[in-house]
Amino acid sequence: MNISVIGAGQMGNGIAHVFAQNGHQVTLIDIAQAGLDKGLSTIGKNLDRQVAKGVLTEAQKQETLARIATNTDLSAGVKQAELVVEAATENVDLKLKIFKDLDTNAPKGCILATNTSSISITRIAASTVRPDQVIGMHFMNPVPVMKLVEIIRGYDTSDAVTKTVVDLSTAIGKVPVTVNDYAGFVANRILMPMINEAIETLFQGVGGVAEIDSIMKLGMAHPMGPLQLADFIGLDTCVAILRVLHEGLGNPKYAPCPLLVQMVTAGKLGAKAGEGFYQYTAGNKDLVVAPAFR
Ligand code: CAA
Repeated sequence: MNISVIGAGQMGNGIAHVFAQNGHQVTLIDIAQAGLDKGLSTIGKNLDRQVAKGVLTEAQKQETLARIATNTDLSAGVKQAELVVEAATENVDLKLKIFKDLDTNAPKGCILATNTSSISITRIAASTVRPDQVIGMHFMNPVPVMKLVEIIRGYDTSDAVTKTVVDLSTAIGKVPVTVNDYAGFVANRILMPMINEAIETLFQGVGGVAEIDSIMKLGMAHPMGPLQLADFIGLDTCVAILRVLHEGLGNPKYAPCPLLVQMVTAGKLGAKAGEGFYQYTAGNKDLVVAPAFR
């Protein structure tokens, strides 16, 4: 299949990686060449891990990379697409604009999927004249590792489009799970209140960063504690998702904790910014609690 992926960031490069590894022709699209170069370099490093483990051969790695073209021009990059997966920043105005552009430029039968983690698929679909061909395809981070693809049907999404996307997800080694379109869907409707409550627990001084994460890792068998996971996802993304839940479901329990909002205002966005609840230095795999919480 000919697949275009919009956005070469954390999620977009992982999505491009998995499609290309499974034999699909991918065009990775981003506004700046520097973003595309960084995305390709991340894909190369993640493929190297698979080669080192013996999951892929060096030749398969090179074939995978050869299946990925790049483009800084959205209209040119989607001209041949049978499927587009949008993985831009979690910002509703940006997504509405991208989908309007996709509707104009992608071929008539092309399926338009979004990797949004919380924004209404029905709302995104309404910015196109093909709402039956718009669907949510929510991958989890790190995309090459996590099995789930949360498939979200908008109000008008057709059965045929849902089946194509479900079958494709299975064919690339993922497990698709189909749900309906309400704010946060299922994954983030449950995950974000847990993360927000962990931050509230820290804010109230019930426990420290290490204590809260240890309890959830050792007591509930989570691979990462909720504060480390928030850093991994990005604290700005967590706030954006909580605001969608708060606005979309109208319940004050979804309001982001003031500490989380404050950290985002201060630019402490988690791992990608070098600091969140933990401090991150290149090459160091040990978890170091950030100075503000020591
Ligand atoms: N690409 C390819 N392989 C990767 C990878 C990547 N980006 N990151 C890790 N891996 C591989 C490693 O090579 C390793 O493979 P083996 O076990 O076969 O050797 C395996 O994954 C484990 O990695 P590590 O040993 O480096 O580290 P770890 O054991 O601590 O696992 C983790 C890392 C997989 C990220 C694990 O900590 C984990 O599962 N964390 C929770 C992740 C999670 O909850 N993700 C969902 C976030 S929510 C979301 O994405 C949606 C949203 O809308 C917010």
